[in-house]
This record gives sequence, C-alpha cells and structure tokens, in this order.
Amino acid sequence: MKALILSGGHGTRLRPLTYSQQKQLIPVANKPVLFYAIEDVIEAGVDEIGIVTGPNREQVIETVNSAEWDAEITFIHQGEPKGLAHAILVAEEFLGDEEFVMYLGDNILRDGIVDHARKFRENDPDSLILLTEVDDPSRFGVAELDENGNVVRLVEKPKIPPSNFALVGIYFFKPVIIEACKSIKPSWRNELEITDAIQWLVENGYSVEASIVRGWWKDTGKPEDILEANRLILDDIRERISGEVADSTVIGRVVVEDGARIVNSTIKGPCIIGRNTKIENAYIGPYTAIGNGCVIRDTEIEDSVVLDESVIERAGRIVESLIGRGVRIKKDSIKPSGHRFVIGDNSEVIL
Ligand code: TTP
Repeated sequence: MKALILSGGHGTRLRPLTYSQQKQLIPVANKPVLFYAIEDVIEAGVDEIGIVTGPNREQVIETVNSAEWDAEITFIHQGEPKGLAHAILVAEEFLGDEEFVMYLGDNILRDGIVDHARKFRENDPDSLILLTEVDDPSRFGVAELDENGNVVRLVEKPKIPPSNFALVGIYFFKPVIIEACKSIKPSWRNELEITDAIQWLVENGYSVEASIVRGWWKDTGKPEDILEANRLILDDIRERISGEVADSTVIGRVVVEDGARIVNSTIKGPCIIGRNTKIENAYIGPYTAIGNGCVIRDTEIEDSVVLDESVIERAGRIVESLIGRGVRIKKDSIKPSGHRFVIGDNSEVIL
C-alpha cells in the first residue's frame, strides 16, 4: 500500500503564521505536524509516500528531507489547492494501480492508523474512511451509516446531521477512486471534493466502509487547535534531560534538548525546551513547547507554543499563546498581567 499525504493548501485560518510558513510545518511539541502523519503511515507498513505540496513547495521538501525516513518519498506539486479529489488526480502517476491511504497533513491521531489499515486489508472494501464521534456534527463532513456500518451518504456541514460521525482526514482507497475523482464536478467553492468522490463510489455500487477512531483526533487548522494538539501530545511525553539545568527546579515530565541551558528557573511539565534554547529567571509552565534557539528571560509562559529563534524578555505572564518564528517580545517593567498572542513569524512586540 502507498500513502498520499497532503501538505498543500493556503491555511488562511492560521494567518499570520501561514504567510511565511506552510501550515503542516508548524510544530506541535517541537515536531512539524506533517511528521506525525509520515510516522503513522510508515508504522502502518507503507514504504512509498507521495507528499502533495502547494504554495510553499521548497519549504516542505527541505523540512521533510532534513529527517531520515524508512520509506521512499516523492513530492508531487499541486500548486493551487483545488480540492482533496484534485490532489488525488495530480498524484495519479505516483499512485499507479495500487491501493493507498490518503492522510491530510494537518491531522494528528493519538493511536495512529495501524488498526484501520488492518481492517482495510482484511475486509477489502473499495474504500474505508475514518470517522469519529463529535458533539457538534454540523461543523464537519458527516457520514450516514447503515446497520452494518457501511457508508450510505456523506454530507458537508449538515444543518440536520444524519449522525454524530464526522469525517477524520484519513481515507483508504482502491484505485477506482481515481475514476470517481474524474467523474465529479467542482463544488460551489470550485473545489473537487473528496466527499463527492466517495459519494460517487457509493452511488455506483462500490463498497465504502467506516472505521471509528476511538483515541483523540485533532485537525490543526486554527491556532487554538495547535495549542490543543500540543497539550494532547505533551500529555504522553517521557522525561528526558539532555541540556544543562543549573540552580533551577524541574517538576514533572520535562524534555530539555541538547545544548539548552536553564538557569535560575522553574520548569513544570509536561513541557519541552528545544535545542540551544536559553531559559533564565523564568517559569515555563505545563503544556508549553519552546522551540530551538529561543531566549526566555524574566518571563512566565504557560500553555503556549513558541517557535524557533524567538526572544521573550521581561514580558510578564504569557498564556495560551502561539508565537511564530523569530518573534521578539520585550517589556520594560515586570508585571504579572496575562497576555494572549497570535503573532506571525518575525513580528516584534515591545510592551
Ligand atoms: P483545509 O484545511 O480544508 O484547507 P486549507 O489548508 O487551505 O486551510 P484554510 O481553510 O484555513 O485556508 O485543507 C485540509 C488539508 O488538506 C490541509 O492539510 C491542506 C490540504 N489540502 C491540499 O493539500 N490541497 C487542497 O487542494 C486542499 C483543499 C487542501
């Protein structure tokens, strides 16, 4: 089985970070979201991965190639995001005549896809789609199932939802999906929708099964989703201190990477401090990920994600914030007031 991982799209809901960065490269617990998808498909036995790229093609290639993978990776250029079914069509040559798993590169699943891949192989349907139960189905693509758990209908953001089962961005397909993608017309938003292609399969007598995701699933489309995914991943980290810790208190499960230096500070896990980052006279609280090469001085940070090379000094107390790369935040006098930020890469904030 091959894998097609989608790393295109404009990511408008994550602006300003996505002005300078492809959204699937934003780190969660200091690892690009896209890497979780790559790891999941490799764990499920895939050894040929196609990564669909969009506006920031070079960035995606460089980041993926900076790591070692136990699979052959091909980059496929989509350019303008014209829909998930369009992404399959641009990958037609790569996919050939094999079955594949399509994985949206901004999705994270706690338990991976091994069990779902097994179900796809054993039951041998034309498609198997991952669903999860949600409280507010009218915000999602929703599936209607028959009594055997087969998909009979898919509806996008229904006013009256036929079930509570929302589509997760992971789908297994036999090659017939290519014919389905060629047979459908663009939707009102001018995209070739994967839901329409799957509906085409159902209407033309092909079998579409569902597989229910039981552990957590997160689509990291918005800033609050990144923070939530960060919390969920940090909840499972194991303590590892490789950097230097001096005159400081470290409580709970904390990762301090190589070359990081923590002086006169309190670090309360779960949290992660990136390579070559300096923390001085600071408090880094639970559910925080500080990237590589940052400086955090005389500041309290909790429940936040700070990307690489940012410098934060005398900034009081920062909570629930997503701070881009190369950001500088400074304050002249220390006050324990709470700020909330969503700031793009290379912004400068002087308080
Ligand atoms: P979306 O989150 O629906 O779209 P987007 O990334 O453009 O974000 P926004 O709505 O904030 O502008 O896309 C789901 C996933 O699929 C995401 O990982 C991007 C990817 N994608 C492509 O690779 N190609 C496409 O044509 C589309 C529509 C999405």
